[in-house]
Amino acid sequence: MRLTKKAAALVLASSMAVSLTACGGGTTETTAAPETTAATEAAADTTAAAEEAAEAAAEVTGKDPSEIKVGISIYQYADNFMTLYRNELQTYLVDELGLTASNIMMQDGKNDQAEQMNQIRNFITAGVDVMILNLVQASSAPDVTNLCNEAGIPVVYINREPDAEEEQRWVDEGIKATYVGADARQSGTFQGEIIAAQENMGDTNGDGVVKYVMIQGDPENVDAQYRTENSVKALQDAGAQVEQLVIQRGDWDQTKGQEIAANALTQFGTDIDVIFSNNDAMALGAVQAIQAAGRTVNEDIYIVGVDALAEVVELIQNNQFTGTVFNDFIGQSHTAADLALEYVNGGEVENVNMVDYVKVTTENAAEILEMVK
Ligand code: BGC
Repeated sequence: MRLTKKAAALVLASSMAVSLTACGGGTTETTAAPETTAATEAAADTTAAAEEAAEAAAEVTGKDPSEIKVGISIYQYADNFMTLYRNELQTYLVDELGLTASNIMMQDGKNDQAEQMNQIRNFITAGVDVMILNLVQASSAPDVTNLCNEAGIPVVYINREPDAEEEQRWVDEGIKATYVGADARQSGTFQGEIIAAQENMGDTNGDGVVKYVMIQGDPENVDAQYRTENSVKALQDAGAQVEQLVIQRGDWDQTKGQEIAANALTQFGTDIDVIFSNNDAMALGAVQAIQAAGRTVNEDIYIVGVDALAEVVELIQNNQFTGTVFNDFIGQSHTAADLALEYVNGGEVENVNMVDYVKVTTENAAEILEMVK
């Protein structure tokens, strides 16, 4: 497996050499020769060729994976979803890509942009080869990008997407920065479709209008805005009449989700047909409030979230939660790690890289649970 990856790195490095030469990139130390040599030997002895390819790749890139240093900062360790994400990222970097654990510097941004800036400066001082950053404030991307670019360090942003103008600047100015995430519009649409697929299209009390509560994430992540807009839009597109009773920020947090839902249930009682939550953590809080209010999910109220936390998927299996959307932390973390290494190996990386969401209902809950547990 390792050999295959190194061989792949060679192909990448060789084609880079070709494209650099073709566009007059001015590199003199690389040629396409190692690939030709490896290919010839492959006919006689595949294993030997792969080994030679691996060595040649190391020569071309100058970095063995076990020596690559990565600086990672996560906006907040206390976040449920980002905990799954960072654990998967660490495991993948070490077990699959061959990095040395002590070369992975992972830090908790503690939801404090100033603290995270210090961590980034420390990564630069420590001479990391690449950074993987989950910004506290997506709006600080231009400053962070410039800092890293001046230090000659490529950056892979994850989870909190910088705005489109900034992403375009990376292309225009040839800056080694990229974003890996998922298009939150898709997750919102899936939430709306899950409600629209119910027999009564979400209108539990039959008054002709789907009245809903919207629990929002921290707006620093554009996912909050996109999920809010697109969930309701999908339900309307399916033909439902809708009315918003409450919209409030729960900052992705379970306790806040519980408080918002409890207050809404006290104020609006059985008028509420649906609770939309921008993520599962807040929805888990809302489920506690629903139970405390004596309401029954999928009978007199619906609830949808996003992420597919194992706890939520189990509730779906037990008919205690309407549906969620799998936010593929496995695909996202692997892509982020792969692209980080691609940068270190001198490869070209697209500025935006999106991983698909998956709708989760009783039909596929077991399958999804296998993946997330
Ligand atoms: C996830 C949330 C998480 C947030 C952090 C979102 O994509 O759905 O659960 O709290 O990212 O930025």
